[in-house]
Amino acid sequence: MDRVEELKREAGIAACSFVRDGMRIGLGTGSTVKYTVIEIGRMISEEGIDVIGVPTSEATRELAESLRIPLSTLEEVTSLDITIDGADEFDSDFQLIKGGGGALTREKRVAEKSESMVVVADDRKQVVTLGEFHLPLEVGKDDWHIVVTKLQEICPGQVSLRGGESPYVTDNDGYILDCEFGPTISDPASLEGQIRSIDGVVEVGLFVDICDAVVMASPSGVTTLLKQGGRLD
Ligand code: 5RP
Repeated sequence: MDRVEELKREAGIAACSFVRDGMRIGLGTGSTVKYTVIEIGRMISEEGIDVIGVPTSEATRELAESLRIPLSTLEEVTSLDITIDGADEFDSDFQLIKGGGGALTREKRVAEKSESMVVVADDRKQVVTLGEFHLPLEVGKDDWHIVVTKLQEICPGQVSLRGGESPYVTDNDGYILDCEFGPTISDPASLEGQIRSIDGVVEVGLFVDICDAVVMASPSGVTTLLKQGGRLD
């Protein structure tokens, strides 16, 4: 396992300190939170904890099923105790860019239904200002051309259809647009509002005021950053 993979694993496992018997847990998507899901599977089989997971993607559902984690759906649960998920970037206000894996819409719905959200990441994801990572948006398949035209009025860089001529199709049967804002997103709430007002946009990969803690692994160890005044503080 290379060093970055090792850091992902350390963060993913450390975040399970937030997991308690009886919880309903939103299970995120990606190569870091995969280790959280595997650890939850271990806690069920070896420690006998009783939890229910709500997966944020088909990939996570398949992984969780293979680990025999009892699952429910977003439609079946009224609320979740916690969501643990990865992120592509986080800033010092715990605002996030997500959607690198294309699962942003379900990830946001699950996180919004949760009483708290914990992000697992290695220290490469920590930024001063969001936007170096391209901002993903989910759009309707028939609307993407018009959304690109509108976005070009507000995005200083390129806007591209993920997958190009063979577009990437999300679990919701939508497309993803990746927008190169550069590290300019100092007011993510206002940008999110601006983008959401464009017809055809299904969801924006900005997670504003949703994350309560980041479990971050770096070469010097794992640190849990708690948002002051957040739901886990
Ligand atoms: C998927 C996501 C992921 O959580 C994000 O891309 C981080 O993934 P990884 O841990 O593989 O870097 O938002 O839509």
